[in-house]
Amino acid sequence: MEYFEWFATTISGLEDLAAREIEELTGLPTQPDVGKVFFEGTIEHAAKINYSSTMVNKVYLLLEREEIQTLEDLYNVARRLDYSWLIEPNQTFAVKAERHDKKLPFTSINAAASIGRAIIESFAESTKIKLRVDLDNPDLEFYCLLRDSKMFLGLNTTGESLHKRYYKAYSHRAGLQSTIASAMIKISGWGKNQSLLDPMCGGGTIPIEAAIKLKNIPPGFMRRELDIEKLKFVDSLFIQELRKKIEESIDRDALAEIVGSDVSPKSAEYAKRNVEAAGVSDTVRIEVRDCLKISEWLNWEPSHVITNPPYGVRMNIGNIVEFYSRFIENIRRASPNSRLTVIVSKPKTLTSILRENNYRIVSTREIMYGRLRTVIISAEG
Ligand SMILES: C[S@@+](CC[C@H](N)C(=O)[O-])C[C@H]1O[C@@H](n2cnc3c(N)ncnc32)[C@H](O)[C@@H]1O
Repeated sequence: MEYFEWFATTISGLEDLAAREIEELTGLPTQPDVGKVFFEGTIEHAAKINYSSTMVNKVYLLLEREEIQTLEDLYNVARRLDYSWLIEPNQTFAVKAERHDKKLPFTSINAAASIGRAIIESFAESTKIKLRVDLDNPDLEFYCLLRDSKMFLGLNTTGESLHKRYYKAYSHRAGLQSTIASAMIKISGWGKNQSLLDPMCGGGTIPIEAAIKLKNIPPGFMRRELDIEKLKFVDSLFIQELRKKIEESIDRDALAEIVGSDVSPKSAEYAKRNVEAAGVSDTVRIEVRDCLKISEWLNWEPSHVITNPPYGVRMNIGNIVEFYSRFIENIRRASPNSRLTVIVSKPKTLTSILRENNYRIVSTREIMYGRLRTVIISAEG
């Protein structure tokens, strides 16, 4: 099979973990960069990542990378490419551009319009057919990233970001991105024969991500739509065979002790619905519990506690310091040997509370969660 250049996007701060996951899934070497990972591989490799990755957002076929200064440079780079092998005449397309370089003398909207024009002109030159643009619901999406005078032009092979999981029957208002939940599980060192508790589980993202790892359920594979399945240059027979192989590797019977709890009955109810939609209700238990009273109700010791407490900025909790202190004191008493992995926006506060309670910090990792700078802290008792 022919090799192409690709890049996979991820959350800023998770690039090395996403790169390692791609290496494990494909056996290919990778090159992590800001918010993305480059690799060279076949369509099969790209399909596997789309189906099975837990930390990647989108996979792009890299069409061109080039230094540019002006809008005309951008147009010229896009215009010289051939698109006739990528897109069917009856497929619609859109271009999304992201400019992370304030020095460039044009906007993202200008860039997208210019590339769109170049694609239409190039396609018409080779096929005599005028492609149609559909900005709301395109069949295919081209993507242009502009950073440090460099442009990267790619074709989106994923569609909607992979962090939008098949199981989100309900989205919690402060829900954690599934890719970050998956990264927290990786960082925590949790393994398939170990137990896990998320005592502030909200819509259940962390327990569900653990359960789909346990059962080897590939999140992208479970989605209704994935762009790689409708690309002109991807053979549908090949996709069918790959899907069959992936289906066979799912271990639906695998079980472990995975529990999510939340003080809000409504959140717990929605978590249950998500657990069901994920197909993991035989291994995930959801309970209504107050984590500040955990020493009163926890009658087993989870090997891992992985959780996403309220950030305080998003939720109306008066004294976040007191909340963290009470939670950590309680969990230390109730489950002294659990490895604790927590995502917070106030890492100094949590670190000092952890130290006061005789935890040893094993790792800290800063990630950008939307506009919020957050830190994943992992600690041992
Ligand atoms: C940031 S949200 C968690 C979101 C979750 N990770 C998800 O992806 O949906 C924090 C959760 O902590 C819960 N919470 C707040 N105080 C709590 C307490 N004392 N005990 C248990 N849960 C609590 C809230 O109800 C909320 O669902």
